[in-house]
Amino acid sequence: MIRSVVRGNGAALPRRTMKNADFEGMVETSDEWIVQRTGIRQRHVAADDETTASLGEAAARAALDSAGMTPADIDLIILATSTPNNTFPATAVEIQNRLGMHHGFAFDMQAVCSGFVYAVATADLYIRGGLARRVLVIGSETFSRILDWNDRSTCVLFGDGAGALVLEAQEGAGAITDRGVLAASLRSDGAHKDKLFVDGGPSTTGTVGHLRMEGREVFKHAVGMITDVIEATFGEAGITAQDLDWFVPHQANKRIIDASARKLGIAEEKVVVTVDLHGNTSAASVPLALSVAVADGRIKRGDLVLLEAMGGGFTWGAVLLRW
Ligand code: ACO
Repeated sequence: MIRSVVRGNGAALPRRTMKNADFEGMVETSDEWIVQRTGIRQRHVAADDETTASLGEAAARAALDSAGMTPADIDLIILATSTPNNTFPATAVEIQNRLGMHHGFAFDMQAVCSGFVYAVATADLYIRGGLARRVLVIGSETFSRILDWNDRSTCVLFGDGAGALVLEAQEGAGAITDRGVLAASLRSDGAHKDKLFVDGGPSTTGTVGHLRMEGREVFKHAVGMITDVIEATFGEAGITAQDLDWFVPHQANKRIIDASARKLGIAEEKVVVTVDLHGNTSAASVPLALSVAVADGRIKRGDLVLLEAMGGGFTWGAVLLRW
């Protein structure tokens, strides 16, 4: 059977970093509060000339380099983002043009922080359905542009950045030992919209709006939703937590990551944590975490890797793949 196999990965971060202490003169907060409640120590913040498209392009080029490919090899680009350069056209098409690619097709996918997990699951279907052989899956965000910088309960949590994977169709045996995407489970429930949303949009206010979040409410739901969707994915693949080599969760909050891993019985040393370095970069967080764990030699070819995310909507999902 056809499998969607990871051929390369890449990342890009804005030049400027902001430490927790940099917020102390802006809002009533402290490095100690932010570290204790979230695990975040710094985040990258885009300058005016750094956009979702430019960061996405840089991450895509890095992923193509690591795959030993050029844009000519790619059939499809899926960009997961909630902070597009324009309301339309899709920023994926802008990235396609920046890459000098005038063949194939490109579209954006909007599932907030779950966007990258949704995009990998979608790319896998395009590949297995025979509509594309090589897909660039990108998560790129500039949440700094939609933050209310006077709201201490949200502005300290988010950062900007981008990450990308190149997936390629390869023949597999249909077994759990195959490389590539092995199982996926996606969920959403719009009843929770008011707990995490942006208070503007083209069809309502005609403005971009700002991120609003009832953090405590999101937290209350997060661990249960994450563990449910992961257990569904384990069930589909016929594995248990012990079989995993690496757990690469969405990087929103270290306490949510720890509680989810504990509930699932995933050993602490198998959990990739980068929330301290990047903050919550929404759809970019999972591919950025992957890039760190691949670069430092933890994730290697043949490893069984579980990706997971949960975010606005609510949306949530998990993808199991063999690297
Ligand atoms: N500095 C200092 N104090 C603060 C800050 C801050 N930056 N922000 C809030 N506080 C205060 C609050 O006002 C509150 O004060 P009060 O007790 O006097 O009312 C107190 O700290 C505790 O606030 P809580 O909201 O209860 O703090 P909590 O421990 O829940 O941590 C946090 C807040 C970090 C937001 C947490 O709830 C969280 O991580 N939630 C989930 C976020 C998440 O996972 N989002 C999903 C993905 S995001 C996406 O999809 C876009």
